[in-house]
Amino acid sequence: MKNSNQHSLDFGDIAPKLEKINVKKGLLITFEGGEGVGKSTQANNLYQQLEKYGVDSIITQEPGGSLLGNSIRKWIKSSGNISPLSETLLFEAARSQIMTEIIMPALKQNKVVIVDRFIDSTISYQGFGHGLDIEVINKLNKIATKNITPDLTILLDIDPEIALSRVSNQTDLFTEEKNIKKRVDSENQRRFEQSPLEFHKKVREGYLSTSKNEKRWYVINANQKSDDISKLILDITKKLLIKNGVSEIRLED
Ligand SMILES: Nc1ncnc2c1ncn2[C@@H]1O[C@H](COP(=O)(O)OP(=O)(O)OP(=O)(O)O)[C@@H](O)[C@H]1O
Ligand SMILES: [Mg+2]
Repeated sequence: MKNSNQHSLDFGDIAPKLEKINVKKGLLITFEGGEGVGKSTQANNLYQQLEKYGVDSIITQEPGGSLLGNSIRKWIKSSGNISPLSETLLFEAARSQIMTEIIMPALKQNKVVIVDRFIDSTISYQGFGHGLDIEVINKLNKIATKNITPDLTILLDIDPEIALSRVSNQTDLFTEEKNIKKRVDSENQRRFEQSPLEFHKKVREGYLSTSKNEKRWYVINANQKSDDISKLILDITKKLLIKNGVSEIRLED
């Protein structure tokens, strides 16, 4: 049976052991990083952990977390030659919708909202990656999110070559052409994975430089075992919950 708090991602039946834990206010936790760094793996894992403790949470993803977002995702993926500005405006449209439809109502109910990609993806990909003015993106992000910023942003950082080889599964799915690694997969529409390696390096630098600007960031070396990364994420999330009124005892295993 699907849990009504899950959007787009299905983990089967997770029955909370305890009665729900109350958090003082809704908390927004975002997962960021390039392709294949482990965002979805870790976001899903955190969601399951929080459910286990009885913390009222939801998980969603950008841009596909709403009906409109899903359509926009398909357009973006299938559009051959989209300009960075058009792409940004489409992502912001999806963001505005997911905010209104899913994130803001859940935050109002004091839930923990886990989002797989958010405002910083646009800054790193369309800004640092494609050269769109960062200030323009910041303004659009503020409009789309109604100035709501994450309480915690987890950046999974790793050399893009390692991350991309994880996504491809086999490195021979890549063809090397003029220093451009193209992912050849059946979908053949995964535009970002098909971008030059240089692009992914710029995206990584974008994330690392943005993460220095605000205290909400927690940067993790993603080139380690998934379980070890999960532990780090759970620890920092517990600290955030305790700061927001959750008793430490309720978060013990
Ligand atoms: N720490 C890790 N070590 C090795 N492999 C990993 C690790 N974390 C995730 N993976 C594997 O790497 C692949 C990509 O992981 P995942 O889908 O979580 O990444 P992602 O950041 O969500 O990717 P995308 O940007 O494509 O959505 C998966 O096959 C996953 O099982
Ligand atoms: Mg993912």
